[in-house]
Amino acid sequence: MTFSEKVFATGIVPVVVLNNVEDALPLSKALLKGGIDFMEITFRTECAADCIEVISREVPEMTVGAGTVLNVSQARLAVGKGAKFIVSPGLDEETVRWCLDNDIPVVPGTVTPTEIMKAISLGLKVVKFFPADVYGGIKAIKALSAPFGQIKFLPTGGVSESNLGEFIGNKSVAAVGGSWVCKKDDILNHDWDKITALSSNAIKIIKETRS
Ligand code: 3PG
Repeated sequence: MTFSEKVFATGIVPVVVLNNVEDALPLSKALLKGGIDFMEITFRTECAADCIEVISREVPEMTVGAGTVLNVSQARLAVGKGAKFIVSPGLDEETVRWCLDNDIPVVPGTVTPTEIMKAISLGLKVVKFFPADVYGGIKAIKALSAPFGQIKFLPTGGVSESNLGEFIGNKSVAAVGGSWVCKKDDILNHDWDKITALSSNAIKIIKETRS
């Protein structure tokens, strides 16, 4: 399966912020138990690379990637630790080219037609649409998918249980990104059961919407 087929099959990429490497394994297992086998660990904390390393080594069923990747050196570090894909809030051409040269799926953030055209010219088929709620949400994706029918979007930012269905119901949406299934406080409180419950509910909505 290609990256875009895999990410479509799951339908959701949790955006994870981890402050302690000890939380990496229980969190990844809680997501898996809820049916989510994708996660993006953001390079916003010191331990992000170590969290990626431990998950990629110990939980092979989980496809773990790195998020908030701003440059080539972070991409190289993440991939060296086992990241299977790279997500960026915006489009850094050098980072995209490095990933493509190294056969690493890369999903840069785009919101304007010009940015999407840049992504297409680099050979990409999936882009992040971020911050989705601020830049017009599903209405904007519908408008952008007219000229860019070959592109699939990963809307992220402001996606939640309440609007998940409207995003997933659109054929130009590969999957959604979001932090609502693994909120900061739930991680802090080690509320793994809640994370599993939120994950399985998200998967249920995705399946129901697509069926
Ligand atoms: C982020 O970068 O934090 C993501 O866009 C997550 O957004 P969310 O918290 O609104 O899901």
